[in-house]
Amino acid sequence: MTKIAHELAAAIRSIPDYPKPGIIFRDITTLLGDARAFRRAVDELVQPYVGLKVDKIAGMEARGFILGGAVAHQLSAGFVPIRKKGKLPHETVRIAYSLEYGVDEMEIHMDAVKPGEKVILVDDLIATGGTAVGAVQLLRQIGADVVSACFVIDLPELGGRKKLEALGVEVRTLVEFEGH
Ligand code: PRP
Ligand code: MG
Repeated sequence: MTKIAHELAAAIRSIPDYPKPGIIFRDITTLLGDARAFRRAVDELVQPYVGLKVDKIAGMEARGFILGGAVAHQLSAGFVPIRKKGKLPHETVRIAYSLEYGVDEMEIHMDAVKPGEKVILVDDLIATGGTAVGAVQLLRQIGADVVSACFVIDLPELGGRKKLEALGVEVRTLVEFEGH
C-alpha cells in the first residue's frame, strides 16, 4: 500500500459483525470527520481526472452523495443523484440491484444527462459491485457515456471491480481491505 492508502485506511473504522455476524463494516464516517483525511480522499479521487472532459459525476445514495458532491465540485462538473426508489419527483428509470446484504431498487431521472455526456461514477465502496453495475446500467439507459468509476474502498474478494471492468468501465480505488 502507498503512504496515502495507509493514511486513508487508518482513518476508516472497522466494525466487526455489523450489520450481521461475519461482516466487517468499513465505516467511512471517521474518515469524513477527519478534515485532512477527507481532503486527501477527495483529492486522490479527483487527481486522475484533472484536465479530462467530464460533464457529470453520478453518485449513489447515500454515501456516494457525500464523496460525489465533493468530486463534482472539484472537477467543476454537474452532479447526478442515483436514488433509492420513490425519492425522485420527475420521470425516472428504475432498476433492481443486489447488495452484499439484500436487494433494493434505485432510480435516476430520465433527463439527468444529455446523450453522450461523459459521466464518472463515485461511491465510497465497491463490494459485490451490485450497486455500481446497476448504476452503470441506469446511466447507459439514459444515454450517458460512463468513462470511469471510482471508490475510496475496494473489497477485492467480493469481485465488484471485475464485474464493472467486464462492462467496459475503468475502475479506480484508493484502499483495499481483505475479507468482507
Ligand atoms: C453500500 C456502499 C455501496 C454499496 C457497495 O451502500 O455505500 O454503495 O453498499 O456494495 P455492493 O458493491 O455489494 O453493491 P448501502 O447500500 O449499504 O447504503 P448507503 O450508501 O445508503 O449507506
Ligand atoms: Mg452506498
